[in-house]
Amino acid sequence: MSTPKNDTPLACVILAAGKGTRMKSNRPKVMHELAGRPIIQWLVSAVEELQPDKIITVVGPDMDDVAAAVAPHETAVQEKRLGTGDAVKAALPALKGFDGDVVILLGDAPLITASTLQSLINARHAQNETGLSVLGTHLENPTGYGRLIIGAESSLQKIVEEKDASEEEKNYTLVNTGAFCVRGEKLEKWISKLDDDNAQKEYYITDLPLIAAQDGFKTRVHVCSDPDEVKGINSRTQLAALEDIIQNRLRIQAMENGATLRDPATVYFAHDTKIGRDVVIGQHVVFGPDVQIADNVTIHPYCHLEGVKVDEYASIGPFARLRPGTSLEQGVKIGNFVEIKNTHMGEGAKANHLAYIGDADVGRKVNFSAGAITVNYDGYEKHKTIIGDGAMVGCNANLVAPVEIGDGAYVAAGSTITEDVPKDALSVARNRPIIRDQWAAKRRKNRTKA
Ligand code: UD1
Ligand code: CA
Repeated sequence: MSTPKNDTPLACVILAAGKGTRMKSNRPKVMHELAGRPIIQWLVSAVEELQPDKIITVVGPDMDDVAAAVAPHETAVQEKRLGTGDAVKAALPALKGFDGDVVILLGDAPLITASTLQSLINARHAQNETGLSVLGTHLENPTGYGRLIIGAESSLQKIVEEKDASEEEKNYTLVNTGAFCVRGEKLEKWISKLDDDNAQKEYYITDLPLIAAQDGFKTRVHVCSDPDEVKGINSRTQLAALEDIIQNRLRIQAMENGATLRDPATVYFAHDTKIGRDVVIGQHVVFGPDVQIADNVTIHPYCHLEGVKVDEYASIGPFARLRPGTSLEQGVKIGNFVEIKNTHMGEGAKANHLAYIGDADVGRKVNFSAGAITVNYDGYEKHKTIIGDGAMVGCNANLVAPVEIGDGAYVAAGSTITEDVPKDALSVARNRPIIRDQWAAKRRKNRTKA
């Protein structure tokens, strides 16, 4: 979805300097992942759809990983975590001379969509005397959220934080989602008037409506009808709840695009999983980041795929693990207990059971038999295996890389191959069997005697 660019210049400020104490984590809260992508990147990508002139993320002094995650967009550093109002203050130098709308978002509410943000901006523009708009939503259980207190003419009178709320105010279910749209030319003045005279001794951004009112400006509320979209993450439990919401969205999206999910609740996608039409996905399949599945592919139950590109009519699993750098051409068959990494498999190639193929280029119609593996690692470095079109790698073969198996060549079962095999040749690298007639019978007899 893309939203047309706004006429009024637009800057977005994302507040992400908080320590996320309630996460009990050594990582910044916004670096925890949802569907394989850090929380902060969900926000940045929603905001990018609005094509703002600037995206400024407010980070703490020790948050280089967050800065890297939002690059090439800029960051501002909040030296001390004195509250959400103080965090906005940290972004003011980056907004110097900016005259337009400033959308302020909390870095820990990542499911917000561009169209909801656009409605918030539109609410700010609805009337001339509107100084800011606030995104609210109705929550059955509003505990922990700031409550929106509506005054005359349905404009917002004030926001009361949970810890400062009276018993009566705590019953209100219209809450502050944390997203604001403020007149840029007023922002600096209003922020400078915030104080920390409250239960948490913090500078609250939620005091802006009162300050704007003193300046003769009203605050309008835009109510988001889908509370799931604006839920925040303060704890691991809430992180899991949002993961659940996102996974359901991704499952529905895959099905709406023409994939069959045998048991949707057991299929887990990454934010960027691409699934074609008439793809059938069995129960308990997990997609890590960067997977592209073309039309008509079947993925049987219990597979794990990450960094993989699969062409049409391929069949995968059950119980297959496809790791980054794997690409499967049309009609490739990967069976149970097969692991593939950094490998290209040509059209119609097969590895039907119990194989490991790493750092290899496998030709068309190659048959990689049960128990065969590439020995790609010598303890120091990884080496490449090349297998020509139509080659047959027998059961339990070890292909010690670097090694090349020519087109149409055979590798005998149980061979450890340390030299290249020419085209159409057979390589046998194992001992001949020694047969001792009656040996076992004699042994049994001796043991019975003793
Ligand atoms: C905040 C709101 C509350 C709202 C809720 C919605 C305030 C005072 N309260 O409460 O009204 O209902 O979000 O989820 O705004 N941050 C900084 N610097 C700081 C403090 C926080 O950058 O000094 C950032 C955090 O990284 C976080 C965001 O601001 O991403 C929100 O902070 P948090 O402490 O989670 O606020 P809540 O208590 O959830
Ligand atoms: Ca929060």
